[in-house]
Amino acid sequence: MGNSKNHIFIIGMMGSGKSSIAQLLSTKYNIPYIDTDKDLVEIMGAEIQGIFKSLTKKKFYHLESTYFLEHIKGKQHIYATGGGLVLNAANRKALKKFGTTLFLNASINTLFNRLSADSKNIRPLFSNGLSKMQIKKIWEERKKYYQQCSDIIIDTNNKSVSTIVDEIIPLLKS
Ligand code: S3P
Repeated sequence: MGNSKNHIFIIGMMGSGKSSIAQLLSTKYNIPYIDTDKDLVEIMGAEIQGIFKSLTKKKFYHLESTYFLEHIKGKQHIYATGGGLVLNAANRKALKKFGTTLFLNASINTLFNRLSADSKNIRPLFSNGLSKMQIKKIWEERKKYYQQCSDIIIDTNNKSVSTIVDEIIPLLKS
């Protein structure tokens, strides 16, 4: 991995497993990882739901982008990004230019099951209730961006985190 393209960016829908994969890759490669959502929670001193409510969705994405575009100027990291990062054109450009981007793909059913199981972390986009229809709607708006931005696409359906990481490693080397 050369210098101008040195980060590893993990993108995908909410529930696609970005944080877990980023952590495991971080241990394997000994490269620090960051979870942009967690950093924003720390900076803002509020949970994502609270930030969404006080700032509105649009301003949350703007804040996320400002933080992301600034952070990537620093040393090499593995990034677990927020699912909405690809909505912003400047972010998409940065994903292409400054790193290798892994897209964790998952079916609507898989996302629904994973998000249902993650009841501690209710995403603000589902504050009115989690449904397959709502997941599908978000997916339809974003799928082209996830595909456009990615260097590597991994199918994560019915796979454990360690199986997914074992699939990723040889692909990152090539
Ligand atoms: C969002 C995804 C969330 C978080 C926010 C918005 C989205 O991150 O940034 O709730 O628009 O897809 P995760 O993908 O880590 O859940």
